[in-house]
Amino acid sequence: MTSDRVQCRVEAVSLTVLLLMLLLCAATPSYGKIYTKCELAKQLTANGISRTYQGHWICLAMHESGLNSTKVVALQNLSSNYGIFQINSKEWCREGRKSGKCNMKCEDLATDSITNAIQCSKIIQQQKGFNEWVLWQKKCKGKDLPDISNCNASG
Ligand SMILES: *[C@@H]1O[C@H](CO)[C@@H](O)[C@H](O)[C@H]1NC(C)=O
Ligand SMILES: *[C@@H]1O[C@H](CO)[C@@H](O)[C@H](O)[C@H]1NC(C)=O
Repeated sequence: MTSDRVQCRVEAVSLTVLLLMLLLCAATPSYGKIYTKCELAKQLTANGISRTYQGHWICLAMHESGLNSTKVVALQNLSSNYGIFQINSKEWCREGRKSGKCNMKCEDLATDSITNAIQCSKIIQQQKGFNEWVLWQKKCKGKDLPDISNCNASG
């Protein structure tokens, strides 16, 4: 074989591999982002929530969504809960456009990035307290909170 032919074969093989990889990527559905406790702690810090309260927020998110930032749950009363903190669409956000007490689109509360979810949850917590989340009352209030003492600044 001439070296040109070898070259050509190598290229054909890599092209096939590339195409296969592209196909695989396109066929793999996105399952959203599952945060680790430390990643969540880092985002809480970035959004102005002090370390003192982070255990409560992380406990809340663990029980509400399993730390799944894209979790959406349709409720029987025709509202839905959005995102890592399962923010309800009735009062706090609106589906399809920015509105509600957080002035946000609900869909923006269930994305890989959790900045909006944290900002809206801070508003809920300031207005109603953690008691607004029934699961916080049941699973976090007065209970041992998740340990984040091993998390470092880089998450
Ligand atoms: C996260 O939530 C989304 C939306 O509810 C769901 O489709 C996805 O399967 C969840 N991911 C995991 C790993 O549970
Ligand atoms: C539906 O139930 C949720 C959770 O209990 C509650 O937060 C929300 O306000 C209710 N929505 C309506 C429309 O009653």
